[in-house]
This record gives sequence, structure tokens and C-alpha cells, in this order.
Amino acid sequence: MDEKELKQQLGRRAVDDFVRSGMRVGLGTGSTAVHAVRRLAEKLNSGELDSVACVVTSSQTEMECEDLGVPIYSLNHAHIGGMLDVTIDGADEIEPSGSLCKGGGGALTLEKIVAYNSKQVVIVAEERKYVAELGKTFPISVEVVREARVTATRALEGMGGSVTLRMAQRKMGPVITDNGCIILDTLFARSFDAVALERELNAVPGVLENGLFTGRQYIVYLAKPDGSLRVLE
Ligand code: 5RP
Repeated sequence: MDEKELKQQLGRRAVDDFVRSGMRVGLGTGSTAVHAVRRLAEKLNSGELDSVACVVTSSQTEMECEDLGVPIYSLNHAHIGGMLDVTIDGADEIEPSGSLCKGGGGALTLEKIVAYNSKQVVIVAEERKYVAELGKTFPISVEVVREARVTATRALEGMGGSVTLRMAQRKMGPVITDNGCIILDTLFARSFDAVALERELNAVPGVLENGLFTGRQYIVYLAKPDGSLRVLE
């Protein structure tokens, strides 16, 4: 199977296995999670599912839901009450401890709020994203308020990070996130404890959030190149 087919299979399978009528569902961001949105829309439009209330994690997912007629709510809406039954999202890296690295699509802050407030989180990713250690080849995304670009870069370098400001494509200047912030992509050559580093990064003044997700257990669907699925719980 090619990459697109694998992502499509993952997104569809997660919806089929975990989403039921009446649920409050968190919808992730990225080229894998979008297939979950599309499958959900298919099932809502055919009547196979009903009364599903969704919370999106980015403007990308918001637009996809709008275009497909998927009903979306704020996480603060009384019907949602700040708690979701299940969230389906992608990841950039997953390590054997179960910790994740996310934010390749720049939506890490809302993705983390949604994931950390869901009863179940299903992560859908290709097998190649299952790595021995996070942050060695795929950088950790650190979302930072614009005024702290220089100071936060210095602080991250002081922690042993190698920092690159994420630049926009087809627009001059940096990526500006849905929250009006910039992203400092940070690689750590040294080994680190992901739980501790998640906290340390967020303690840097000006950091809004970082892409290490260590705060909960995930159900991980990994797709192998032949299309077979490995499930980690
Ligand atoms: C966006 C994310 C994505 O879930 C992550 O980058 C994986 O994306 P894709 O499924 O396109 O590979 O964290 O902020």
C-alpha cells in the first residue's frame, strides 16, 4: 500500500472501531487524522451514526468539518463540558514508553488540550513513526509567543537543544500558528526523560506548549507497509 492508502485505512479504522452515536469526539490534525474526519462525515451523512458532537484541534480540521457538514462545538460548550469520549489524532513519533511527539502540523496546543481531556485517545500512524527515542530525528515542536523568539531560543539551546525557527511556505517569514505564535523546532542529541522535558520546556517564559505528550495512555494503531495493523495499548 502507498502512504496515502495507509493513512486512509488508519483514519477509517479508528472511526469504525471507536466512534459510536451520541459520543463527544475530538478530531486531530494532519494528513492521517483528516481521513478520520472524512469517515465520520460519511457515517453521519449516511445515518449510520447520529448525535456525534465534535471538537476540532486546528483551523485545518475546522474547515474540513465545515465543508463536510460535521457538527463542531467549542470544548467549552455546555454540551461538551470540557470532556470528550474519544479523540482520534496522528503523531510524528511514538516511543515504546507510550510517549508521543506531535506538532508537525503546528496544532500541538489544542491537540494536547483535547487529548488530555479525552477518556480515550486513539493515535493513528505509520509503523515508521515508532522509534526508540523521541526528538532525535524529528524535532520537538515548541510553540512560543513571538516576543520571546530570541529569549526562548537561548533557553532551549541552554537545555542542549538545536533550534530552528519553523518557516512558512509560500509566504515570507515564520509559520504563525492558530494561536498567533511561532514554532521553534528543537532537536536534542542527548537522551532525555520525556516526562521531565515536557515540564521543563513549558517552564521557559514565553512557551505556550510543546509537542511532547506524556500525560496519559494512548491506544496506538500502527500501519505496516503491507497494510496490516499493529495495536499498542
Ligand atoms: C499536527 C500533528 C499531526 O498529528 C502530526 O504531525 C502527524 O501528521 P501526519 O498524519 O500528517 O503525518 O501533530 O500538529
